[in-house]
Amino acid sequence: MENKKISNIKNICCIGAGYVGGPTMAVLAANNPNIKVNVVDTNKTKLDLWNSENLDELPIYEPGLSDLIHKNRGRNLFFTSNISDCIKEADMIFISVNTPTKIKGLGAGYASDLKWVESSARQVAEFANGHTIVVEKSTLPVRTAQTIKSILQAYEEKGDFQGDKKSFSILSNPEFLAEGTAINDLQNPDRVLIGGEDDNAIKLLEKIYLNWVDRNKILTTDLWSSELSKIVSNAFLAQRISSINSISALCELTEANINNVSHAVGMDNRIGKKFLSAGPGFGGSCFKKDISNLIYICKHYGLEDVADYWESVISINDWQKKRISKIIVEKLYGNLSDKKISIFGFSFKPNTNDTRESPAISICKDLLEEGCLISIYDPRVTEEQICLELGDNKQVSSEKNKSNAKWTKNEDLYECTLNSDAILLLTDWEDFYNMNLKKLIKNMRIPSWIFDTRNVINHKEAKSVGFNMWKLGNG
Ligand code: UDX
Ligand code: ADP
Repeated sequence: MENKKISNIKNICCIGAGYVGGPTMAVLAANNPNIKVNVVDTNKTKLDLWNSENLDELPIYEPGLSDLIHKNRGRNLFFTSNISDCIKEADMIFISVNTPTKIKGLGAGYASDLKWVESSARQVAEFANGHTIVVEKSTLPVRTAQTIKSILQAYEEKGDFQGDKKSFSILSNPEFLAEGTAINDLQNPDRVLIGGEDDNAIKLLEKIYLNWVDRNKILTTDLWSSELSKIVSNAFLAQRISSINSISALCELTEANINNVSHAVGMDNRIGKKFLSAGPGFGGSCFKKDISNLIYICKHYGLEDVADYWESVISINDWQKKRISKIIVEKLYGNLSDKKISIFGFSFKPNTNDTRESPAISICKDLLEEGCLISIYDPRVTEEQICLELGDNKQVSSEKNKSNAKWTKNEDLYECTLNSDAILLLTDWEDFYNMNLKKLIKNMRIPSWIFDTRNVINHKEAKSVGFNMWKLGNG
């Protein structure tokens, strides 16, 4: 690849208007008013929502996002399906497409499916014009840059539509935003990591970030270290959660309290208090996928023991989810048929409408398998989304058949518990912290249970109004 020089970035194209591309470009455009930012996607319905006048309809719920969209959309931030023109115009292209784990073929269950990355690389190769900097932004397995590079290189000789030669520089700039706090994470990042070989390209990307990020927070490395750092960061975070979740089971058997244990452990400066909250298991699009990639690459290099170590982080996560459904069945006399369970929270964490890998999915499936009815309350997840995750309930669109539905979505927290035997709290949404427990229990069958997997509900108060209470990690 040639190291041609661009002196200034005036036009950016981001391929993929999803959970990463949308918020990232909104923050980048807000901090770089002189750069035109086009976010492109193949999904026209999604683009219509990004362009909707009604900001409540944005395809992603993220605190602070609608405000940024309101201020910058149509000024220097655009959402469009005109992929070829936007690529042609761009000096710098971010690839922010989906990279789920492969479900079939070589590496199924572990390796990322690079279908979408490859097709965007081909689009870039086809339409780019002159010298273009290509930035990998999606969470990608180590050495993906190499895949992108080899596709682009194949086109370098071909020339652009004017007959001039095209050339590319590849950078890795992994995303560290967490959903629910994405805007704040992007606005005040712990670090910005830029990996690459072309110093000029690195400097140009650095310059964009310097408009709002301190220089000492910007790290530059080689491509592979940058890609690996992203995966390892997520693996370490997930490993802490599996560690504390494993101890939650021990606490239950030994009458210790997991909150007290994590507080005491986290006070050690060397350990730190973050990511030590026990729960129903980690979800989200990144943790499992990134660890799976790590396992895949370790196996590829013959590091079987290292692969086994990381595999156990995923196994404990699966075990925690299964353990919770098993406890519910046992507490409800080993029989769930004709019983009703109210699920409080379906997203994988609060302040997002994302349900990817949410522990609620497998726990609900286990409970449905036992023959119970489920009513779900979640402030942001739609009925259509739950339908995609739990399967079509047939009754979803038919009000009159709702009594036969295996699962229903309820818009009201208190109506959700009507005739329920138990509440299962799975996501720590703000709504659940100060509920009127008396009002909740009034609608329920007796004995009425609360299974609190996030340690949100006041145990004493719940008992005083008549609930039987099970709290994760409490003996
Ligand atoms: C994660 C990383 O944090 C982020 O840096 C990366 O860019 C993408 O992946 P995200 O998946 O959005 O972000 O959310 P995160 O806050 O990390 O939570 C992941 C899961 O872990 C959630 O299901 C959450 O409930 C769970 N979790 C988190 C716990 O169970 N306990 C904790 O202490 C923290
Ligand atoms: P992430 O969490 O990584 O942002 P999402 O699934 O939320 O993942 O978003 C990825 C987006 O990328 C989707 O909206 C998808 O339609 C889009 N996409 C995938 N492949 C292409 C492509 N070749 N060209 C344009 N957009 C694409």
